[in-house]
Amino acid sequence: MLRHRTSSDVETVALLVLKALGAEDRTLPEYAGEVGRNAGARRVDDESAWVLVRLEGPYVIGVCHGAPEWDFERREPVPGGAHLTGLFVDPGHWGHGHGRALLRAAAEHVQTRGFQTVRLWVAVDNTRAIRLYRAEGWQATGRHATASDGKDLAEYETELASRQSSSQKAYPVLWGGL
Ligand SMILES: CC(C)(COP(=O)(O)OP(=O)(O)OC[C@H]1O[C@@H](n2cnc3c(N)ncnc32)[C@H](O)[C@@H]1OP(=O)(O)O)[C@@H](O)C(=O)NCCC(=O)NCCS
Repeated sequence: MLRHRTSSDVETVALLVLKALGAEDRTLPEYAGEVGRNAGARRVDDESAWVLVRLEGPYVIGVCHGAPEWDFERREPVPGGAHLTGLFVDPGHWGHGHGRALLRAAAEHVQTRGFQTVRLWVAVDNTRAIRLYRAEGWQATGRHATASDGKDLAEYETELASRQSSSQKAYPVLWGGL
């Protein structure tokens, strides 16, 4: 089951993210400790952002969040552009389709909000995530950046309009706290 995150999920999601990053041997200061928890709390309060959680029973086992895409050079939003800022599944639940379900639900959610494109950054050596994005029709834009831990990042994007005719299974989201 998928739903939008509420403020009561902040602590659980912060821990889940650290576990998922740890399983990839990554430590990103923006997700650690107080900084990570505060960023998570801000996402719940920010009406332009969205946070979807995947549940197994009562337990949160995955999260996917995003916000309108911001053009840092022009200092303005990218028209029609959304940015997927994070996708994390508890490592104990990897390989069971939860990442894919979250990714599809996020794409559908931003499409219903009127965005036309979604972009994300992924470490070039994160083969698990890249395989998922490619399988879901995301394509590399050719742009690169450097993560806070020094890793080379590649940008991927998907055009939402072209997904309308797709026969992919939809994952309905229960509306909640956001
Ligand atoms: C990336 C991540 C979200 C995938 O979550 P998941 O629940 O394991 O993904 P799914 O089970 O839905 O798998 C979807 C696809 O991922 C890929 N995948 C899954 N397990 C894999 C493995 N062991 N090796 C390589 N690719 C794998 C496959 O393409 C798979 O599709 P398939 O089952 O049809 O082959 C999860 O591994 C994670 O949280 N990683 C750490 C955080 C991270 O790197 N996030 C992405 C940052 S951009």
